[in-house]
Amino acid sequence: MTKRLVIVTLFTLFLLAETAPATIGADNIRYSESDTITTDTALYNLAEKLAELLSTVRDVIAINQVKINTCYEGGHYDFKGLTPAAVGTQVCNYFNLSTGIKMKQTSLLLRNPKNAPDDWERTALEMFEEPDYPKGFPYTEVSTIHGEEVYRFIKPVYISKACLRCHGERKSIREDILEYLETHYPHDMTTGYRVGDLRGGISITIPIAEQRLTQPGPP
Ligand code: HEC
Repeated sequence: MTKRLVIVTLFTLFLLAETAPATIGADNIRYSESDTITTDTALYNLAEKLAELLSTVRDVIAINQVKINTCYEGGHYDFKGLTPAAVGTQVCNYFNLSTGIKMKQTSLLLRNPKNAPDDWERTALEMFEEPDYPKGFPYTEVSTIHGEEVYRFIKPVYISKACLRCHGERKSIREDILEYLETHYPHDMTTGYRVGDLRGGISITIPIAEQRLTQPGPP
């Protein structure tokens, strides 16, 4: 790994570490001149924190649905479709334009076919479904996409209480939300979940080539 990539990665991790709780792998990073850090560890930690950030954005949108959809004047409910996944997709798209890093919310069972997994993601999601797969454990690999070397990371996503509003039993979903889902996602396969169920994964693809990480701007 080049020196610039190490610096950019460490700086990003440093910023994230200021705000994020300690998570897997973060312990073996020390921010000092004598530091030694492997490419894999740096990329793993960056991907892990990015996945956590996207998850947090999604959770914030999920728990604020009533606020988002309640009109300021009159206080009546007006579902706007500003769902965790809709916001998450926009965050992923803008983030990709400025960094070259791809973030994606995907699943084997889909509401929006555009979120379909690629072959690598599908394999990982199938592994996550196996009963003896350790809960929450990510899967990673260095591979090549369109001739470009990338670090791939995918982490399972589980259903929490706030998700049931739109992914729970159909009879417990508000009429107006159900109507919105039926109109926009006629082939929806993602209702009937319970808290703790595997819902899909957050997938992160980081280009390893230095310029994609250090020169922000449209690819
Ligand atoms: C307010 C409704 C709503 C809530 C709450 C909600 N979702 Fe969704 N979810 C959607 C919609 C709508 C889509 C499809 C979005 C799109 O068009 O990409 C979706 C898509 C997804 C996807 C992408 C794969 C697919 O099926 O298209 C995942 C993963 C997902 N949701 C997980 C969750 C999790 C986990 C939670 C709880 C933290 C959650 N959702 C809460 C409405 C919701």
